[in-house]
Amino acid sequence: VTVFEPGERVLLVDRKGRRYLVTLKAGGAFHSHAGLVTHDAIIGAPEGTKLQTTGGQTLIAVRPTLVDFILKMPRGAQVIYPKDIASILISADVFPGAMVLEAGTGSGALTLALVRAVGPSGRVVSYDIRDEHASKARTNVESFFGRVPDWLDLRIGDVSAAEPGPEVDRVILDLPEPWRVVPRALDALRPGGIFCCYLPTVPQVSQVTEALRGAGFTDVTTTETLVRTWHVEGQSVRPDHRMVAHTGFVTTGRSLGGGEP
Ligand SMILES: C[S@@+](CC[C@H](N)C(=O)[O-])C[C@H]1O[C@@H](n2cnc3c(N)ncnc32)[C@H](O)[C@@H]1O
Repeated sequence: VTVFEPGERVLLVDRKGRRYLVTLKAGGAFHSHAGLVTHDAIIGAPEGTKLQTTGGQTLIAVRPTLVDFILKMPRGAQVIYPKDIASILISADVFPGAMVLEAGTGSGALTLALVRAVGPSGRVVSYDIRDEHASKARTNVESFFGRVPDWLDLRIGDVSAAEPGPEVDRVILDLPEPWRVVPRALDALRPGGIFCCYLPTVPQVSQVTEALRGAGFTDVTTTETLVRTWHVEGQSVRPDHRMVAHTGFVTTGRSLGGGEP
């Protein structure tokens, strides 16, 4: 069993399910409306430890999941919702060892998921045209992994002119005009490689679909993912009253080659 160490992040969850993300520091304290807990009470303890605040409230200490981190991390650009990240990873068939070209990096939410999915035998080259977004993403990546993993290359620039290197397996885009990137993607992707983009509106989906078909991509598909959470308590078991009705569409297409050799 690995125990919490100084410098690590811990997620504290109270009885009502409220979640607090805390970075542990020897001598530090977490303050809530129900009193405080010292970091020293968490450091050296295993995950699942129950803690009492000075006000008598119980908190459970666990390591944050990727989604816990994404929902709490600082953002500049709008991040992709976890349900859409899940859909992108499967729709684009991101696998361990894959070489992925991504843009725009934005706040780095999708980048974190891609880096984890491809693992150390893969590579993610991520472009953002705005350096303030790239540097926010870098800070988030460092905060999540403790460093920038050596299989992630964060670059500033326009992805339409990207030089990602040979044998790109996947091009994954979250930016407003992905059709401008289709010619570059066609050159960069190996035959059989997958182009995937995330878009909020229907006209954008039409335009990128036409661009992909025009460039000879096959299997061009668009999906939308709706997630409905449920309230489950005693006899009251029903869908929650509110849900996120719309975020975006995921469009994918498969390259048959045809770009630069
Ligand atoms: C909605 S954000 C991406 C959010 C990101 N997927 C996340 O989960 O945090 C869109 C980003 O695309 C960048 N961008 C727009 N056009 C671009 C281009 N042609 N090349 C590279 N980045 C671009 C913007 O600067 C912005 O940071």
